[in-house]
Amino acid sequence: MKVTVINKKGPKISKYIYGHFAEHLGRCIYGGIYVGEDSEIPNVNGMRQDVVEALKNIKIPVLRWPGGCFADEYHWKDGIGPKETRNKMVNTHWGGVTENNHFGTHEFFELIKQLECDAYVNGNVGSGTVQEMQEWVEYITMAGESPMANQRRENGQDEPWKMKFFGVGNESWGCGGNMRAEYYADEYRRYQTYVRQYGEQPIYKIACGPTVDDYYWTEVLMKNAGRFMDGLSLHHYAMTGAWEDKGPATGFEEKEWWSLIKHAQYMDELITRHSAIMDQYDPEKRVGLIVDEWGTWLAVEPGTNPGFLYQQNSIRDAMVAAITFNIFHKHAERVHMANIAQTVNVLQSMVLTEGAEMVKTPTYHVFDLYKEHHEAEFVESFGDESETITYTISKKDQVMTISICNFSLTENETISIDNINAKSILSAKGIKGEKMDDYNDFSHPETVTIQDVEEVQIFDQTLEVKVAPMSVVTVQVAI
Ligand code: AHR
Repeated sequence: MKVTVINKKGPKISKYIYGHFAEHLGRCIYGGIYVGEDSEIPNVNGMRQDVVEALKNIKIPVLRWPGGCFADEYHWKDGIGPKETRNKMVNTHWGGVTENNHFGTHEFFELIKQLECDAYVNGNVGSGTVQEMQEWVEYITMAGESPMANQRRENGQDEPWKMKFFGVGNESWGCGGNMRAEYYADEYRRYQTYVRQYGEQPIYKIACGPTVDDYYWTEVLMKNAGRFMDGLSLHHYAMTGAWEDKGPATGFEEKEWWSLIKHAQYMDELITRHSAIMDQYDPEKRVGLIVDEWGTWLAVEPGTNPGFLYQQNSIRDAMVAAITFNIFHKHAERVHMANIAQTVNVLQSMVLTEGAEMVKTPTYHVFDLYKEHHEAEFVESFGDESETITYTISKKDQVMTISICNFSLTENETISIDNINAKSILSAKGIKGEKMDDYNDFSHPETVTIQDVEEVQIFDQTLEVKVAPMSVVTVQVAI
């Protein structure tokens, strides 16, 4: 494939496109992130240090919490104060297990501090009151004297925390209240009024957006509430099989390789069409399309709780991640943030844990390979459904970063990039699969891992990269 770089100024690729999502679901928070101060698993203030370090390495920019569907049943006051007196609840959505609320607001912001990332808190519209939401924002962000700020101090936190993003409800068309678009648009207007700015930092308010291709929802929200929001969410999961009988994460057939990839590529059409509606009401692209749930949703691992959504993660998931990033980059002007579901032990996760053990997934390595695109200037991307190759080129300072994904099962691909003015190759790294369901587990943690890539050369003005089948490669060149 031949590519010619055209030197025109592109939009910035927000680092928030590489955001994450952690819900009170299965073993994501409990066991996966938070083990408690008394655990024998190495931790700082209850947070697993192996997981925190792994996430810092991929420069996690933002974490969304506490849900998901859980958010619209979560009553934040149950999660503050001494742990032994915190109210328990039933996590009705996810396995009907008892939630002891030991991970609450203080623990979340401790995690944010350790990860050195920004906070995205999702409020409860479905079963919570306006007052409850207002008081949560006051508790988190109010510096001066106030009932909520005083309560926060009594619970050991003097200074307010920084909360950059706030979601007003989650999937309000479904698990968040089964609302109609018109009704939610009005509720959004009312609830967001009381998401007050107490500190200096404005809060970026995110309205619940459509599921997949519900273009009507986008239209109604933008028309009736567009001027009250900073972002509108979009959820789309890539799947194989039927909703009630999803295809497996490993041990799948070749046709399931292609069907998952096709479903992931559908993200491009979704963003294009939702953006076109948003453009009518917001041609300046002030309102971000926030893809705050995306990733693969496959069958749970045999023998695990079906409500815990624990799935393996193969080189096929890595392809989905790279394909999706290249789509997000292409739409960088409208897609201001995205959050993969979910960080640990749930759906398309970064790491899997079992007791004290942790393993990095192939998806983790794609986040690692793509981290140089954070805040870089978009140059070009390609993702035509007729080809089995997709790439992004971006530029930061005097470095050009090229990430290429070859999702052919059999064919090598050589990509020649003209007019790139490369002076030298700084690095060339990648991951590749030998089998289409190669994955990492606790006994084979490095079946898929980042390795140096040799087949990269500069001839005059051209950079040539040979990309193996089932692989993702990132090359950096000095320009
Ligand atoms: O990520 C799992 C669930 O998927 C979330 O709780 C919900 O918002 C979505 O339906």
